[in-house]
Amino acid sequence: LPNDVLESFTRSDLYHNSFLIREDAGLESALKNSKEKGLRDIAVSPAQGKLLKLLAQSIGAKRILEVGTLGGCSTIWLAQALQPDGEIVTLEISEDNAKIARENLATAGLRNAQVVVGNAVETMATLNPEIPFDFVFIDADKPSNLTYFREAKRLVRKRGVIIVDNVVRKGDVACPSWSDASAEGVRTLLAALKDDKEVDATTIATVGEKGYDGFLYAIKL
Ligand code: DHB
Ligand code: MG
Repeated sequence: LPNDVLESFTRSDLYHNSFLIREDAGLESALKNSKEKGLRDIAVSPAQGKLLKLLAQSIGAKRILEVGTLGGCSTIWLAQALQPDGEIVTLEISEDNAKIARENLATAGLRNAQVVVGNAVETMATLNPEIPFDFVFIDADKPSNLTYFREAKRLVRKRGVIIVDNVVRKGDVACPSWSDASAEGVRTLLAALKDDKEVDATTIATVGEKGYDGFLYAIKL
């Protein structure tokens, strides 16, 4: 996207955030530490993080699963939706990222967040919770989207919510002449959802400081 367009998206996010999103020392520290440790700047934006928190809160989520931790920014947002007895489990493939995320979660004062290191294709398969999850946020490597989504369906309660990040990709996913592994990962998920009677879903495009992208929002029927 051209710089002037991105600047206007960013300005708009910052304008709205200035009314709606309070400063959060834990999140600020997490962003600063993540940047200092060299993590890529691909965490959810504050407006997106707040939306995730509100959506989880709307269903009274007590147990949240996240696939793809990075530095734990979305983990911090989602944890704010939890009831006092709630917990969030977040899956991260990189031991280095997990270390940074644990620092960030500790600095934010979160004790009900558990970072599990490993390839989520494997770690999700080992999960078999007595109490299912209420809410799953999938934001990891895009080629495995369908695998993660299938596992999320298994792990979430009836009427639970599954959200998948980065399903629009500045329109690349819908562009007939475009192909890359991430776009294909989204297309494979969409193709499976077409005939999936176990969930109901929609894509909502997002535009803001992180550019033009979108969330897929699904509920398990
Ligand atoms: C990338 C991954 C993300 O989850 C995201 O939100 C943006 C970009 C990436 O791998 O490039
Ligand atoms: Mg993402």
